[in-house]
Amino acid sequence: MNVLVVGGGGREHAIVWALAKSPKVDTLYCAPGNAGIAQLAQCVPIQATDVEAMVAWAKENPVDFVVVAPDDPLALGMVDALEAAGIPAFGPRKNAAVIEASKSFSKDLMAKYHIPTARYQTFTELDGALAYLQEQGAPIVVKADGLALGKGVVVAQSVEEAQQAARDMMAGKKFGQAGAKVVIEACMTGPEVTVLCFTDGTHVVPMPSSQDHKRAYDGNQGPNTGGMGAISPVPAYTPELAKLCMETIFQPTVDAMAAEGRPFQGVLYFGLMLTPQGPKVVEYNSRFGDPECQAVLSLLESDLLEIFLACRSGTLDQVDIRWKDASACCLVLASGGYPGSYAKGLPISGLEEAGETAVVFHAGTALDGQGRMVTNGGRVLGVTAVGKDLEAAIAGAYEAARKISFENMHFRHDIGHAF
Ligand code: GLY
Repeated sequence: MNVLVVGGGGREHAIVWALAKSPKVDTLYCAPGNAGIAQLAQCVPIQATDVEAMVAWAKENPVDFVVVAPDDPLALGMVDALEAAGIPAFGPRKNAAVIEASKSFSKDLMAKYHIPTARYQTFTELDGALAYLQEQGAPIVVKADGLALGKGVVVAQSVEEAQQAARDMMAGKKFGQAGAKVVIEACMTGPEVTVLCFTDGTHVVPMPSSQDHKRAYDGNQGPNTGGMGAISPVPAYTPELAKLCMETIFQPTVDAMAAEGRPFQGVLYFGLMLTPQGPKVVEYNSRFGDPECQAVLSLLESDLLEIFLACRSGTLDQVDIRWKDASACCLVLASGGYPGSYAKGLPISGLEEAGETAVVFHAGTALDGQGRMVTNGGRVLGVTAVGKDLEAAIAGAYEAARKISFENMHFRHDIGHAF
């Protein structure tokens, strides 16, 4: 089969890397891809959000199956458009991707189907939001309703901070239309865990648990980023909790989406808080997390293409999905200054040496005019190691990362030890 993967970050590199191992895959394409992905797939210069161009290219080329990985094209209906053009695609349709694209939709769904989450209210008028924040007090969470590049959530420590966040979103249009509506919810406490699940709309297969590290600096300090590293599995997520989450959260969510006439096929991301009252949903995403994907897929032993095809055909219960009895750690090497402004085009050295003991997924890289690998984004690389246990995986990732360098390289020193 010829497979096109849509996207161009570390997550897509991990998906391409896993698909490349499938005996069913003939040719891999990736749009737009990056310089690391280009070592495994033919990169196609089409932006992931350009639905029309992507469908046209897939029609004109020998593509048998498309994997749509990022949130934006899913929310724009890329899977619907591909399927309408007769091209089978992996990922939720637009009416199911709304579970990530609208926070108010997902909160209303959880309320209707009694899925545990924080109490909340939705506002379209700033005055109402400000009054509610005054009444509730802090800490409190303010969320833009729509997609905001992962920046639309403010965990406010004071009423003033929360009210400013609401003003920025609703009056200041900080996130455009995405912030015209806000969800305000109670602050939950406890370790945060991600559980990515494969689902065909009926059956749910959780992957090993994982944990992202969203803040830029050690000790969970500094600004939020796209994610500075991930581990899998998470020791705090016990088999008992996994069973409870399956019964009270995962299966009920997939059943709820089906009951709403929005069957979800693809990867459903459960952002969970392990609160003293039990596990609760912080957020849903309609796709693999990044960098959780890099850690989790490193542990997959089965054929990823077979799983993707089964998700689409409703036969996930017939696939044997196996995982390594091991742990994984993905350490992100970022550009100095990220998530603020940063330089691009800086030469990267040591990739081959690091690749001897770890898998180096590329997130923001390019080849310059002289064919040198250079930085081309905020998150540059995800150095991913597998070990017999978590400590071994963490040590492996840091050891490999020490061999890589580029000017102003920045990374956290406490991945796997920050919670
Ligand atoms: N790692 C968080 C996300 O992908 O949304």
